[in-house]
Amino acid sequence: MWTFILSILIVGSYGSCYWNDMCSYTLFGTKTAYDTIRGDIRDTQPLRNCEPISVWMMTRHGTRHPEEKEIHQMRQVIRVKKQILNAHMEGRGELCAQDIENLYKWEWRNALDLTPSELTPEGFVQLRSLASRLEERYYKLLKSLDEYQMRASHEERTQMSASAFLQGLRKTRQYFKISTSFPNDLTTRPYRYCRKRYEDILIGPKIPKEINEYINTEDFKRVQSSVQNRTGLLEPLTPKQILSLYDVCRYYRSYTVLLQDPWCAIFTNQDLKHLEFVEDIRHYYRNGHGQPMNAKLGGSSLKDLYNKFVRAKKGVKSFSVFFSHDTLLGMMYAALGLYKDDPEITGNKRAEDRKWRTSYLTPYAANFIAILNKCKNPTGSTYKVQFFVNEKELEVCEGGPCNWIQFVDKFKNFTHSNLDFCQNVSNKQF
Ligand SMILES: *[C@@H]1O[C@H](CO)[C@@H](O)[C@H](O)[C@H]1NC(C)=O
Ligand SMILES: *[C@@H]1O[C@H](CO)[C@@H](O)[C@H](O)[C@H]1NC(C)=O
Repeated sequence: MWTFILSILIVGSYGSCYWNDMCSYTLFGTKTAYDTIRGDIRDTQPLRNCEPISVWMMTRHGTRHPEEKEIHQMRQVIRVKKQILNAHMEGRGELCAQDIENLYKWEWRNALDLTPSELTPEGFVQLRSLASRLEERYYKLLKSLDEYQMRASHEERTQMSASAFLQGLRKTRQYFKISTSFPNDLTTRPYRYCRKRYEDILIGPKIPKEINEYINTEDFKRVQSSVQNRTGLLEPLTPKQILSLYDVCRYYRSYTVLLQDPWCAIFTNQDLKHLEFVEDIRHYYRNGHGQPMNAKLGGSSLKDLYNKFVRAKKGVKSFSVFFSHDTLLGMMYAALGLYKDDPEITGNKRAEDRKWRTSYLTPYAANFIAILNKCKNPTGSTYKVQFFVNEKELEVCEGGPCNWIQFVDKFKNFTHSNLDFCQNVSNKQF
């Protein structure tokens, strides 16, 4: 009997079709679906003899449409579809018939051209269900708050995420209202108006240099060769084309229930791991430990967390939820010294066991939650702070939840957060 089942499994996994591959790779950097990596806040262990008295949360918006620039590049690169189909007809390439048929039927979504960067319906559901789980877990607290604050950055996708979140609070929705967003918000998006960041990081030389280095490694050349073999194209695609097709694959799969898109078939699982690393390099320097300025920017948001918990300890129970971007979450992790790799991430070699991995840190709907607990003990009250990243508990202090002294040690510094350096730029024309 068992031999029989086993032999079916082996036969079933023969070949390299994408459409029926049960083990296709699901980590797509910042375009990873939240459900692929999340935990569940409802399943986390409550602390014994403790009661939560405040919640502070920073969340990324849910699944969104590509940016205008990405749409433009994607539209250009999908023209190779015809050549791929021709190659198959001429007997070249390694794609199986069903993958080719699916690619043949694939169509560009015209809605994208009208709605770049906006939240998708799937993104709406992610935030709504996150809110429902959070409410289920902290219902008692949400009913007895002294204060709350809910605010999104000044963008459609974060504001829609906030509406989705509010809708997900099924029983307590009526107690809350979302505040109006404003441009220069030092909590939800402290980095956007930082001229120095724009000059030194966004248009600076470091990121292109590191990515270019990776594109010239044997790893990446193997991706190029592998894609050429699978598609049967006569000329290899350029790294830029490959990265745009990777975008087509990961954006389009995020619109589907089964999280599949035929464009993904041109990549092997190994190719996808190499492509995943490209974004980790970029984000390591753009948002993470790669540049010290990122930690300073993340501190600007964490200052609010510290102030809220100090007030809560004095008796003001609060619930704070901010809707922001993967950039900010990366910066907050940098500020807290989390997910730091040694040696650091560089383009010259893919760090397979890296801690800085955007697929886990900043997928769609990524979130960082801090819970202040008031605990009974024989000598009076003590306080403990728990942290969760994507609904999995995170050890910020050694040995578990932070006690109050540890928390103050780690967070007090953020009250001195100062972004004056942002204006210190050479190009006054910004
Ligand atoms: C692509 O095909 C060529 C020729 O068969 C082969 O030498 C090469 O190793 C293949 N590339 C990959 C990444 O499999
Ligand atoms: C506290 O902040 C100062 C000034 O921003 C910084 O130089 C120092 O390294 C920080 N200390 C810690 C422990 O983060």
